[in-house]
Formats: sequence, structure tokens, C-alpha cells
Amino acid sequence: MDFKNKIDLNRLPKHIAIIMDGNGRWAKQQGEQRIFGHHNGVSSVRETTETAAELGVKYLTLYAFSTENWNRPKEEVEALMELLVHTISKETPTLLKNGIKLETIGDIDSLPRSCIYELNEAKKATAAGDRMTLILALSYSAKWEIIRAVQQIAEAVKDGSMQPNEIDESVFASKLCTAGIPDPELMIRTSGEHRISNFLLWQLSYAEFYFTEVLWPDFRKEDLYAAIYDYQNRERRFGKTSEQIQ
Ligand code: IPE
Ligand code: IPE
Ligand code: MG
Repeated sequence: MDFKNKIDLNRLPKHIAIIMDGNGRWAKQQGEQRIFGHHNGVSSVRETTETAAELGVKYLTLYAFSTENWNRPKEEVEALMELLVHTISKETPTLLKNGIKLETIGDIDSLPRSCIYELNEAKKATAAGDRMTLILALSYSAKWEIIRAVQQIAEAVKDGSMQPNEIDESVFASKLCTAGIPDPELMIRTSGEHRISNFLLWQLSYAEFYFTEVLWPDFRKEDLYAAIYDYQNRERRFGKTSEQIQ
């Protein structure tokens, strides 16, 4: 089906978040090592990013490495970090050309020095991009992010600059890594897994979830169009009744 022509460009999600999953299984199917899958996932990242920007999506968040992923075998973690450094420096000119600004969420200080360096360089270089913001979630987990926000708020209350009754949703959201970024309306997870894996627990409160069996290295333009088309056919009620919406 040609989903692209079915998409209503006036009702695009402003922010799409993706759990890029299935690289290891994709590699196994080809009789290769897991890292081969990660390498092949890069073309999906490139195509998804360009397609989202072309359509007019404003924010794209990609879950690239979770807090829990540090528990993988040392060789895989090292290979992923190397791939990250290499990809960031290689792709920065394309991001720049396409007006895409790079941001990160997560415990960036926990990454190897070379990664921190490349990320900072790429963020500086693309800072003026105003077509779309690409947010990489790296060493990210929602529980880590929420605890960190609670610590910051507790400090503010302790030093007297905030009163407990001043803490509301907007104060809390302003302490998260995603401060200033609208919540995703659509969350996509590839590879047939139906779980959230510690991703954006606060921000996804009212997101529409789209699950596909496609493994991340096979994810292409058409798969993104299909997800957006599916999203546009949902009724988002936000607690109201269907009649109230129509
Ligand atoms: C997603 O693919 C990439 C990362 C989590 C870094 P996986 O590596 O989780 O692939 P599967 O789930 O084992 O197939
Ligand atoms: C989630 O994928 C994290 C990323 C995509 C970076 P995992 O493959 O690590 O998730 P679980 O552990 O299977 O839930
Ligand atoms: Mg996985």
C-alpha cells in the first residue's frame, strides 16, 4: 500500500519516538555476529531521520542505548560505542545540510570520552538547525531521569528556592532531560517486542503506541509512513468520550 499519499500533512505527529530494536536477531538470521546488525541499523537511522524531516516532523527521538544495555557483553558495548563515534562524525555534514539539530538525552557523562567529544562537536555544529531536532537517547532510562529530576527538586526545596506546593507537572517536566521538548504523540517499537523498556515513562503518558514485526535494520521509509498513517486513524480521547471529540 502507498501510505505516503494517504498521510495528512496537516495532522503529523510533532514528535515521534522510536525504540530501535531487533539488530541482534537480524544479524543472527544472516548468520552473523550481533554487531553486524548494529552496523546495518545505521542506514535505517539515516533513512528514518531524513524521511521524518522531509515530511515535516519536528522532533525525532531514537532510543540508541539504554542504562540497562551497559550489562551486555563488554565487546558488544565497546563495538556500539565505536559505532556511535564513527557514525556521529560521519553523519554530521548530512545533518547540517538537512537543517537537523542534534540533541541527546541520558547520562552522557557515563559514555567514553571520545563519544562525549564527538557528540559535543556535532551538537555545536548543528545548533542552528531549525527543520527538525534529532534526539538520541544514550545511556538513557526513564527511571534514572525521574530520580535525577526528584533530586534536583529536593535540592531546590532544601535550599528554600521552591516550596513543596509549587511542584506541579510543568515544574517536574522542566527537570527532565526533555525540558522544552513537546511529548511524543507517537511511539514506534520494532522487532515485535511489546514493552517500553524504561523509555520516556513520563513523556509517553498519552502517546499512541505502534508495534511492528520489522527488525530495525529492515525499517524503511514505507514503514515510517505506515506508522504515521496508523496513528492518524486513531481517536485520541484524552479521557473524554468519543462523542465529545467529534
Ligand atoms: C537494538 O537491537 C539495539 C540496541 C539495544 C543497542 P538489539 O541489540 O536489542 O537486538 P535484539 O533485540 O537482540 O534482536
Ligand atoms: C531497548 O532495547 C533499548 C534500545 C533500543 C536502545 P533492548 O533490546 O535493550 O530492550 P529489552 O531489554 O529487550 O527490553
Ligand atoms: Mg533488543
